[in-house]
Amino acid sequence: MPDDKPLRANRRQFLKGVGAIAAAGVVPPASAARTSSGQAASGAAMLDYAAPGIERPRFGIIGMGQRGKSLMPLLLAVPDAELAAICDTDPVALRESRLLLTVAGRGDTPVYTGHDHAYRELLERADVDAVIIATPWRWHAPMAIDAMRAGKHAFVEVPMATTIDELWQMVEVSETTQRHCMMMENVCYGRDEMMVLNMTRQGLFGELTHGEGAYIHDLRWQMHETTRKTGSWRTHYHTTMRGNIYPTHGLGPIAEYMGINRGDRFDYITSMSSPALGRAAYAEREFPPDHQRNRLRYIKGDMNNTLLKTANGRSILVQYDTTTARPYSRLNLVQGTGGAFAGYPNRIALDDPPAEIQTIYDEQYEQQKAAWEAGGRKGQRPTRQSFHRWDTDMAKWYARFDHPLWKAGRTAAVTAGGHGGMDFMMLRRIVECLSDGIALDQSVYDGAAWSSLFPLSHESVTNGSKPVDVPDFTRGAWRSA
Ligand SMILES: NC(=O)c1ccc[n+]([C@@H]2O[C@H](COP(=O)([O-])OP(=O)(O)OC[C@H]3O[C@@H](n4cnc5c(N)ncnc54)[C@H](O)[C@@H]3O)[C@@H](O)[C@H]2O)c1
Repeated sequence: MPDDKPLRANRRQFLKGVGAIAAAGVVPPASAARTSSGQAASGAAMLDYAAPGIERPRFGIIGMGQRGKSLMPLLLAVPDAELAAICDTDPVALRESRLLLTVAGRGDTPVYTGHDHAYRELLERADVDAVIIATPWRWHAPMAIDAMRAGKHAFVEVPMATTIDELWQMVEVSETTQRHCMMMENVCYGRDEMMVLNMTRQGLFGELTHGEGAYIHDLRWQMHETTRKTGSWRTHYHTTMRGNIYPTHGLGPIAEYMGINRGDRFDYITSMSSPALGRAAYAEREFPPDHQRNRLRYIKGDMNNTLLKTANGRSILVQYDTTTARPYSRLNLVQGTGGAFAGYPNRIALDDPPAEIQTIYDEQYEQQKAAWEAGGRKGQRPTRQSFHRWDTDMAKWYARFDHPLWKAGRTAAVTAGGHGGMDFMMLRRIVECLSDGIALDQSVYDGAAWSSLFPLSHESVTNGSKPVDVPDFTRGAWRSA
């Protein structure tokens, strides 16, 4: 990648200043990080755990469907990473993967297939340090647990698992094996999310009080996938679950802004769903009356609203809707005593903007006022920018608050791609953390807490929106982390 060196140099330089690290928020303060000896304290042993450095981490990918196939070329593009082997049970997915590998000059990559547990043969390989797990949700926990027990770090797609029991098992196996188990919440690596993280760490919004995240994405078309691909398994969760079945894209960034598991934690939730109408209506419209999609009973309300209360009293709204015909949104709203940022579209309003941005506002006002006066004072008199009006012109905010990782690595990330570069940025960070022997940005406790909304929102919706406690996967360590 053309700008690889600047990124690494810049990042190392960046790591030198603990203040800067804390300001960026992604990397834990040096005082909290374990050394590269791999030793960790008791209790929440994997909080800020740093495994011994691996110079060129070698990955296996389990699950070469839509997601696995999109991650693979990105991984091949990450400097200092190796692809050791892949695994899938679907011959079509493997044929497509082999084609991609051949084009990339990696046609000799070993492939594991044939039965549901062929991935265990991949885990036996001595030349695999870590696995990426991009399989249907029911496989996440067993595969990650097997991987850690085989001595591999596990990087798991979202959500990390679907039951509280599985999440606890993943936490405990990660602690006992001292292997990372990171849920790959790629949205936390988006340019906008990292800029807002940077802003929150610099105190731009004051003391944070409230956040809103969402996964609003019309995915009804996936119901056409009946024998293979995402819709063939994901559709069925709409017939068994009532709450939020994909909470982490919206919630992960908000949790990072608020320092969840690092000074605050999720305390309890309450969840409410709208009627479940859209999937049945879509099935009726799109498929013959006797089609399997018309024989399903959809119980998951089209829109789910989950409210979280944190131990420090903050509130978070998390929405989920993959059924309604409406534009995509993750909301991405955070507010505090000093103002607010909201996404879709990006906008910001502050009580007291930084001096250089106030100067820009003042200049704009003077120009608008002069033009208004020159034009004979016709139309509405220009007013000064204030928190009464959203500022939607983001260029100056990027210039001032773009996260250092995006400032240095934007060209590489955007060129490589993957949801606007966030996937490449995430893989690159994972590889850097593994090779440098530093703590990952997202711990197993984060993945567990964010994913816990999957079963807990179902429980709350099923029981008249009653409050449900969120387990403290850090067992109290969030207070001092
Ligand atoms: N982070 C993101 O932006 C993002 C985007 C899409 C999907 N995902 C996640 O990625 C995961 C996969 O989703 P997808 O859309 O690629 O689904 P998919 O159905 O297209 O792919 C899943 C693949 O896993 C394979 N598989 C199933 N059981 C297996 C087993 N026992 N051993 C080996 N392979 C097995 C299937 O054959 C299939 O090829 C899910 O967890 C999903 O939530 C994340």
